[in-house]
Amino acid sequence: MVLKDSFGREIDYIRISLTDRCNLRCFYCMPEEGVKLFKREEILSLEEIEFLINFFYKYFSIKKIRFTGGEPLLRRGFENLVIEIKKNIPEIDINITTNGILIKEKVNFLKEYGIKVNLSLDTLNREKFKKITGFDFLDEIIEGIDLCIKLKVPLKINTVMLKGINDEEIFDLIEFSREKELIVRFIEYMPLSGNDNWKKFFISKKEIMEKIKEKYNIFYQEKEKIAENYILYDDKKFVTKVGFISTITEPFCDFCSRLRITSDGKIVLCLFDKTGYDLKEFLRPRIREKKLFDFILKTVKLKPEGFVALKKTFFDKGENVESFFVMRKIGG
Ligand code: 5AD
Ligand code: SF4
Repeated sequence: MVLKDSFGREIDYIRISLTDRCNLRCFYCMPEEGVKLFKREEILSLEEIEFLINFFYKYFSIKKIRFTGGEPLLRRGFENLVIEIKKNIPEIDINITTNGILIKEKVNFLKEYGIKVNLSLDTLNREKFKKITGFDFLDEIIEGIDLCIKLKVPLKINTVMLKGINDEEIFDLIEFSREKELIVRFIEYMPLSGNDNWKKFFISKKEIMEKIKEKYNIFYQEKEKIAENYILYDDKKFVTKVGFISTITEPFCDFCSRLRITSDGKIVLCLFDKTGYDLKEFLRPRIREKKLFDFILKTVKLKPEGFVALKKTFFDKGENVESFFVMRKIGG
């Protein structure tokens, strides 16, 4: 059967966070008080994750999954997990969202198993990279990108736009996209980190567009799931394609077809929700399929209408925004 929420939206896609650990410390992802990681026994085992994927496939026809983090490639046994899933469901569409540090090591595996990559990269400047993430890994990531291109691993770059930090780099990012023949998607910074950075750094799609127009002609091309893609021309010469993911100024909640599962086994229905619904109690000490099935059906009905509705209570009051979830726990 198809999983539907109470607004008639079909769930066709699951994002599973494999770990809350990360090998970067992006300032916007880290709460000011530091991080408290899940305990080992709290997180789902690889067998439990595999079971859930098979379960969602069997009962709810879910054919697309995305592994997120923290940094999903840090999860030990990642390869085995993929191998086992592919054995059971050869046609499954597997995607990952990664910071790219470990791509170099894993690229052959990703290629072999047809895994598509979204790579988060906010800057091309080494010093800025250090400032944003706390580490000096830019060169490794660029090498990883080049290897993906060489091996034809499908790759998109996701860039969170941060005012005063990387908005000055917009033309460098466009040039990077042109040179590597890659799509870069500019993402609006969301107030999720539980600290009050948001207002200081938020920059809208409209502002970015205005900057781009100083140099290029920009034409709307297509909607691709939650992104809107545009083509840039320099006079009449094609430059590159870029995307925008404008969660804040153009929320896409009406088309939201996703469900998130945290690495500690909680369903998260919306990034702006405050509750996680625990699946572990139906998996431990033993799996209870019927109960799990009923729980999932019931939980999905609680999916909030979305950000549009939340916006009224949340942003429009101009208050500081606190969020329950950090990306490190739910992986974007
Ligand atoms: N707003 C937008 N994107 C974010 N990410 C992390 N925190 C935020 C935020 N507050 C992005 C990361 C990465 C993905 C996992 O989510 O940069 O691309
Ligand atoms: Fe940065 Fe993503 Fe790691 Fe958070 S999870 S620190 S956003 S790379």
